[in-house]
Amino acid sequence: MRVVTKGAAQTRELGKKLGGLLVPGDIVALVGGLGAGKTVLVQGMAAGLGIEGYVISPTYLIIREYGERVPLYHMDAYRLSGPEEMEELGYEEYFFGSGVTAIEWADRILALLPREYLRIDVGLTKGGEDGDRCLAFTPYGERYEVLLKELERHVDLGP
Ligand SMILES: Nc1ncnc2c1ncn2[C@@H]1O[C@H](COP(=O)(O)OP(=O)(O)OP(=O)(O)O)[C@@H](O)[C@H]1O
Ligand SMILES: [Mg+2]
Repeated sequence: MRVVTKGAAQTRELGKKLGGLLVPGDIVALVGGLGAGKTVLVQGMAAGLGIEGYVISPTYLIIREYGERVPLYHMDAYRLSGPEEMEELGYEEYFFGSGVTAIEWADRILALLPREYLRIDVGLTKGGEDGDRCLAFTPYGERYEVLLKELERHVDLGP
């Protein structure tokens, strides 16, 4: 599934719809360059999970936790020195814990991801206007195929 958003508000809205469908144990791997819109999407996901307050990039902390009913583990692998640092953070407790995990720069730790997860590539569109972003969703595993079908029903894919 591919969606083009026009402006951060639309990406946030899309993230909110996704967040509304997520359940504990879900893993969302975000891939895309600096300023692509990964954090904006996670802000929307947080809203969809019913988390109040502002979600910011965890770049310097690598992981931040939000929410109570369904915790959101927001990770950013950008500044990771390597997989060992993820091990030290105890990443498995998050991946297999009782919350939703969202990982920015997930391409840096692909080898550590479980077999099943939702990948979202966020990028600029070719020849698009400023503020256009393309989001490409790839499900790995049946859970995420089902999730995407559900999301498609909630998203206006445009013409
Ligand atoms: N369609 C869009 N979707 C998302 N963000 C957009 C869009 N159009 C413009 N923007 C702007 O692009 C920027 C995206 O920033 P954001 O922090 O989400 O990027 P990021 O992918 O998390 O980058 P980083 O790798 O530095 O963490 C914001 O300033 C946002 O306002
Ligand atoms: Mg970010």
